[in-house]
Amino acid sequence: MSEIITLKEPKQIDDYVACARLGRQVDGRIKPTNVWYAQDKNGKNVVLKKAGQTWLKSDQEGLCEMLLLHEFDVHRKLEHPHVCPALDYVTHNDEGYIVTLRIGSENFEEWLEKIEDPFESIFFPKPKKIDTENGRNIATILGDVADAAAYCHKEGVIHLDIKPKNIAVLEKRGYLIDFGAAMRYPGNHPLLTDGVIGTAQYMAPEHGRGLPKPSSDVFALAVVAYSALMGKHPYRLQINTDAPLTIEYDAPEFTKEELAHLNGAGALMAKGLSKKERERPPMNEFKDAFRELASKQYQTPSAETSKPCPASSE
Ligand SMILES: Nc1ncnc2c1ncn2[C@@H]1O[C@H](COP(=O)(O)OP(=O)(O)OP(=O)(O)O)[C@@H](O)[C@H]1O
Ligand SMILES: [Mg+2]
Repeated sequence: MSEIITLKEPKQIDDYVACARLGRQVDGRIKPTNVWYAQDKNGKNVVLKKAGQTWLKSDQEGLCEMLLLHEFDVHRKLEHPHVCPALDYVTHNDEGYIVTLRIGSENFEEWLEKIEDPFESIFFPKPKKIDTENGRNIATILGDVADAAAYCHKEGVIHLDIKPKNIAVLEKRGYLIDFGAAMRYPGNHPLLTDGVIGTAQYMAPEHGRGLPKPSSDVFALAVVAYSALMGKHPYRLQINTDAPLTIEYDAPEFTKEELAHLNGAGALMAKGLSKKERERPPMNEFKDAFRELASKQYQTPSAETSKPCPASSE
């Protein structure tokens, strides 16, 4: 869960004035992140993200800056109602920052937490009670993200880190943020030669092997959609598990029955979760199916209809 840390004094970063910094709860304490809430000269609300990844060593600062420049280069050309716009790249005290338009104060993970049962916080999808209105709101947000990702694919960009934390939510609509793992396709990401970039719990098998494709985004969105609508991970993953290997070799734990009540969207989600890239539908079909689902009454699935899938999808 993010915390907003108000700065004692406003901080001038190039032409921007930061008044707050995002913090995250780590072991019961609030640790500052490299994200600031700021305003431009005209008072427009923006977000500044500094170069620097927690998992990189301090002697790799040059690499951090190069990664942030790559992120800005990919992100800034994208213009879509559900892609958060990248506005600027600035340097302050020898440190680079990406400036994006600020979209609310909540990501999809935080938004979902508010409608879920306050039990079992090991991993974000908790057992939940989704009423019909929440179901429709979730489908609307998923449709927005599918719309944004389909646009990115049309522009030759793959996001490669679609997950609830990378979806900003404002007034029950979703916006794709964080193009830190994104790359042109075909093309390359500066980190791909050395390893894998993205988030294990949402990563398609081929992405985990360092060979991401547009359909890897489809897999990630299917995991997000399944988790958000069903309240559990389709592979029952928990944080910090060795997700790529689990997704590669384990059978999925979703059932066809529990997806059936979602009609077209349910069938597409099952295909989207396929380990075989060629069986996954294009992102555009997801967009249409979620939009249709959002316009319908959503029925909460009953526990009795859930039976394990016979055998693996392989
Ligand atoms: N434009 C924005 N509008 C509103 N909130 C934002 C925006 N950009 C980032 N945030 C918030 O800051 C968080 C971190 O941003 P972002 O994902 O871009 O940074 P990151 O360093 O790549 O983080 P992580 O490593 O956790 O993915 C997001 O989860 C979101 O809550
Ligand atoms: Mg992120």
